[in-house]
Amino acid sequence: MALQKEELSKNLLLSQAHIWNHIFSFIKSMSLKCAIELEIPDIINCHGSPMLLSELVEALAIKEERTQSVYRLMRILVHFGFFVKQSVSTTKGCDEEEGEGYLLTPASRMLLKEGPLSIRPFLLAMLDPILMDPWQNMSKCLQNDNVNAFHTTHDGMSLWDLAGQEPRLNQFFNEAMASDARLVISVVLERRGPVFHGLDSIVDVGGGTGTVAKAIVKAFPDISCVSFDLPHVVNGLVGSKNLTYVSGDMFEAIPNANAVLLKWILHDWNDEECKKILKNCRQAIPCKEDGGKLVIVDMVRKVDEDDDELIKTNQLFFDILMMTCLTGKERSEKEWAKLFLDVGFSDYKITPILGVRSLIEVYP
Ligand SMILES: C[S@@+](CC[C@H](N)C(=O)[O-])C[C@H]1O[C@@H](n2cnc3c(N)ncnc32)[C@H](O)[C@@H]1O
Repeated sequence: MALQKEELSKNLLLSQAHIWNHIFSFIKSMSLKCAIELEIPDIINCHGSPMLLSELVEALAIKEERTQSVYRLMRILVHFGFFVKQSVSTTKGCDEEEGEGYLLTPASRMLLKEGPLSIRPFLLAMLDPILMDPWQNMSKCLQNDNVNAFHTTHDGMSLWDLAGQEPRLNQFFNEAMASDARLVISVVLERRGPVFHGLDSIVDVGGGTGTVAKAIVKAFPDISCVSFDLPHVVNGLVGSKNLTYVSGDMFEAIPNANAVLLKWILHDWNDEECKKILKNCRQAIPCKEDGGKLVIVDMVRKVDEDDDELIKTNQLFFDILMMTCLTGKERSEKEWAKLFLDVGFSDYKITPILGVRSLIEVYP
């Protein structure tokens, strides 16, 4: 009986810890955002060797009384693998100071301001109040007829409409997408460059400010690329010999090309909306024999028990992000296949070379 009671209270406390872990998960993202806003990774990187807390506080140009707060911020970020500590001895005046200094890890290296593949802009965008406020309205939105919590929060406007009106949102969102695009296209070109072989022209639908298109024409000077997006995204951008910016609405028509690229587009939209986009894509490309195809970069939701846990968790996060801020979802292979076949595509091939995401080639 006593043992049973002990087991019961142990389980209660375990459940409480599990719930607390969920309640306070936001502290992970907010602590990281704080460090990034303060440019802590850049400061440590500039320092060039393990950086003592006192040196960090001095470089941050904040009051000495805040030293303990910086220490506690660094402690949680060390705990979560963004920094490591290493013993260091320095000479200050004539005193030798022994201590531990902070160093970057591979994760914080990806958050440097100037890193070529930095995902800092993505972090700052996703944690901006414009994109965070809708999370307070998730339950309200499930109980009303609004399209999503973003609409509920932002006077019935979609993310794309608001980006057209709010230059700050337009800018930080485009920068966030460009930072992701730099990383993704570098992996695609390195690991699956042949996907573009034999093509004369590509249209990157919803191509943002043209990061992917620029990388493709640089790697394949014989390919001409159109980066196609809404007017507020591409107006004023200047192309080059092989790169043209075209503004328009993919629900109306898509410029013709050998291949259509859709990176992080279809997961933004529900099935009916995707079918409209896919029909317009089909009209824009030639038949399979003439090389026509779609190249999609998106998630293929893992559903098997033995699938990688981190990938599955991230896919579930993105799925709820799509539900809250847009009308889309993350799809399993079965759901993708149905979409393609419903619109009349004959075949597809999934290459899972992008971590949480995959490269999907679809043929007419
Ligand atoms: C999630 S972002 C992806 C951007 C880019 N493909 C990338 O992954 O880096 C979606 C893009 O679709 C564009 N978009 C939204 N509605 C559109 C429409 N009706 N026609 C064309 N582009 C649209 C947005 O402006 C945005 O640039």
